[in-house]
Amino acid sequence: MRRICILGSTGSIGTQTLHVIRQHPDKFKVVGLAAHSNSELLKQQAAEFGVGQTSLFVSEGIAGLNRIATLEEADTVVVSVAGVIGLLPTFNAIQAGKNIALASKEVLVAAGELVMPLIQKYGVTMTPIDSEHSAMFQCLQGYRSDQVLELILTASGGPFKGRTRAEIGEVSTEMALKHPTWSMGGKITIDSATLMNKALEIIEAKWLFGVPLDNINVVIHPQSVVHSLVKFTDGSVLGQMGWPSMRIPILYALSYPERLTNDVERWSPELTPNLTFETVDHDTFPAIKMARQVELHGGTMPASFNAANEEAVALFLQGKSRFWKIYDAVQHVIQSHQPLPVSLETIQTADSEARSLVQTYLLK
Ligand SMILES: NC(=O)c1ccc[n+]([C@@H]2O[C@H](COP(=O)([O-])OP(=O)(O)OC[C@H]3O[C@@H](n4cnc5c(N)ncnc54)[C@H](OP(=O)(O)O)[C@@H]3O)[C@@H](O)[C@H]2O)c1
Repeated sequence: MRRICILGSTGSIGTQTLHVIRQHPDKFKVVGLAAHSNSELLKQQAAEFGVGQTSLFVSEGIAGLNRIATLEEADTVVVSVAGVIGLLPTFNAIQAGKNIALASKEVLVAAGELVMPLIQKYGVTMTPIDSEHSAMFQCLQGYRSDQVLELILTASGGPFKGRTRAEIGEVSTEMALKHPTWSMGGKITIDSATLMNKALEIIEAKWLFGVPLDNINVVIHPQSVVHSLVKFTDGSVLGQMGWPSMRIPILYALSYPERLTNDVERWSPELTPNLTFETVDHDTFPAIKMARQVELHGGTMPASFNAANEEAVALFLQGKSRFWKIYDAVQHVIQSHQPLPVSLETIQTADSEARSLVQTYLLK
């Protein structure tokens, strides 16, 4: 029986995590739940799953997330809060000996250099929830990293695939929130429209699988059926397929190395006979190039990049900024940032400096 805490239980990943747990009461027990402000849903979830320990960020702040992340009775923490706010709780959970099922990619983008050695040091596991990373994780089972030539992440291309730079300059928040294949929280949906999601994901993949960024590439795959691919040194390419549903990767992250049944509709090749792949339009969507530039600098630069994006997306979602300005603001921040060696303190400073720079830049 795995005893699980969920940070961000009221969100898209959190509610789907509870959905898969509901189907396996003999395998999983929920012991702690945390959310930001949705007290009604949190209360309902706690009642349904018989959870005694809950926390709302609006009442308890980061201390509440840390408390739930380190509960004595838990062995696994699902980190599915929106953004890098999950960093400190993830740190504390690892140090308390908890296994991590990670959805919040921002944690590894900002602090992979600190988190991955901690995973080793405390002998815990980190299983990916992100569908692309789950796909690669599944394809990599039984292989060594020196047998891997390339990781190929698939991207749907988002709602603006095929548009020119001029056409996407003025798109509305509503248009950007209409993802063609996935139903997700607001921040990641905007990240999918800008392709910042892939920018964050290549950095996440680097830390999870120890593959250099030069060997991690992205291909557009509009049907979102092939969730990612791994190319090996002998030329073989393995992929993982299925309908675009987060329930499979969530369940695998919790049941690994077991495979449990679920209620996701079964995919078969004849149901999608026309799977297509295209190259990324890096001129219109510069996010992935930015991520490569950021990684070359290293240190606190990725944390600054991530925070700038979070802040710019938040302002766009509030209707205070335009779509294209997300790139401009992030570029402005990474050009100004002087990276320092990473520590929790330098990351937190880089994060808050980036956010205030974006505020000034976009609201001036
Ligand atoms: N959705 C997907 O399909 C998907 C796929 C892959 C990866 N991810 C990653 O998973 C993470 C969550 O995404 P999502 O789509 O589930 O987001 P979401 O639907 O916006 O949900 C975010 C969750 O985090 C909670 N939260 C936000 N700030 C918090 C804080 N300061 N303290 C405690 N809880 C907080 C929210 O609580 P309230 O409800 O109270 O606001 C909510 O439960 C993101 O990092 C995303 O990139 C998501």
